[in-house]
Amino acid sequence: MPTVYLNGTYLPAEEACVSVMDRGFLFGDGVYEVIPAYGGRLFRLDHHLQRLQDSLDGIRLDNPLSDDAWRGILDEVLERNRDRAGADNDQSVYLQVTRGSAARRDHAFPEQTTPTVFVFSNPITAPDPLIATRGISAITLDDIRWQYCNIKAITLLPNVLLRQQAADHNAAEALLVRHGRVIEGSASNVFVVREGVILTPPRSEQMLPGITRDLVLELAEQHALPYGETDIQADSLRQADEIWVTSSTREIVPVTRLDGAEVGDGRPGPAWKTVIGLYRDYKEAVRNGTQDQGL
Ligand code: PDD
Repeated sequence: MPTVYLNGTYLPAEEACVSVMDRGFLFGDGVYEVIPAYGGRLFRLDHHLQRLQDSLDGIRLDNPLSDDAWRGILDEVLERNRDRAGADNDQSVYLQVTRGSAARRDHAFPEQTTPTVFVFSNPITAPDPLIATRGISAITLDDIRWQYCNIKAITLLPNVLLRQQAADHNAAEALLVRHGRVIEGSASNVFVVREGVILTPPRSEQMLPGITRDLVLELAEQHALPYGETDIQADSLRQADEIWVTSSTREIVPVTRLDGAEVGDGRPGPAWKTVIGLYRDYKEAVRNGTQDQGL
């Protein structure tokens, strides 16, 4: 049984209980982060904590903990669940902060509540080797979400419905289209490669500023790979040489079928091979402690 952290206590997951009056439960009134840790070392923690702060600001909730306190809790949860992870000790940590519980159900913020803080970790399983040879299928769907998708809110019902719609079509991801432009995936950011140039939509309130996305751009810059941040018209997706989706848990995944048609030659492309190589080198350097993460 995994050990979780809940409001100041480490305890077995089955014993962790949250009030039915918690605003996370009643309203989805909270935010979250998912942070990978390789060999026990948290990946880009400072970026995740900054995004957490931005999400909390976005929902007008004070951060209940300092960065140091967050780091201490995340490290402790990883350590306590080490025996559940494989020999490489790769885990992903989930943290959630809700506005806490109040005596009455009222949409407006309660006067005084203590936020609920919850953290757990899961072993990360190595990416399916078939992804490197075959890639995944995706479908395009209308983006039915709200206007503040830059906030990593726990209110994920639209994302859940969209991802399930993809699954119903035997696709691993839904690419979301708003006003004719592809924005991101249901739980990932999106890249396309056109004539050797790596392209992704610019940051906006319509999408989550992905930590993996930003690292891909950073690696492209460092290694002088041509890249750009630009709007991507949904009807130009079919002409893309490559499409990728990125996230902390899935890294960089080539999309080789879109809406039932092949992307490029239907196999993971050369730009993906280059970038996933750079990403894995970076990840190994984090694991070995040789990558300066500015912590
Ligand atoms: N989701 N866009 C959305 C809507 C997401 O939910 C995610 C990640 C991303 C990628 O962000 P990052 O690279 O920081 O993981 C983009 C996480 C993994 C989840 O909900 O489980």
